[in-house]
Amino acid sequence: MPPVPPPVLTELQRQLNYELGAAHAYLALALWCDDKNLKGFARFFHKQAGEEREHAQKFMNHLLDRGVLPVLQSLPAPQGQFDNLVQVAQHAQSMELANTTGIHKAYEAAVQAKDYPAQIFLHWFIQEQVEEEAWTDEMVARAELTNCAGGLGELDRHIEKHLAPSEDES
Ligand SMILES: [Fe+2]
Ligand SMILES: [Fe+2]
Repeated sequence: MPPVPPPVLTELQRQLNYELGAAHAYLALALWCDDKNLKGFARFFHKQAGEEREHAQKFMNHLLDRGVLPVLQSLPAPQGQFDNLVQVAQHAQSMELANTTGIHKAYEAAVQAKDYPAQIFLHWFIQEQVEEEAWTDEMVARAELTNCAGGLGELDRHIEKHLAPSEDES
């Protein structure tokens, strides 16, 4: 196995920490929802936090498999205050957009350096971001449509079902 080229290594370490930051950020969204008794959204975001930690673990495993010690950085404090659920959904949407940019940057470095293992590794994440952007877009749209208290409760009860990937995707 060839060593990880330095520019790719920089990108993989950066993205690993970004995924951990995303887990931290989703935890903050889950807590906001818990506090507002939006139990469905809270469960959904707690689950997302777990998935982001799994993403970080994939990066750590890839680096370890290639003989590199992953380096953990301090994580920025996530945003925890929001005026309403639309803002929460928009925050998730902007995080995922930024994450897609990061994944693409890492992939471009891998292409440039002809690092084939990193390219194949990142394919999964490129596809994952298509799905992450799709559900955040849908969540923003559904939250924006909900402008009465009854509608919000209804949306909260069904959000996990709405945004769950269909059988053939998962
Ligand atoms: Fe992720
Ligand atoms: Fe994500």
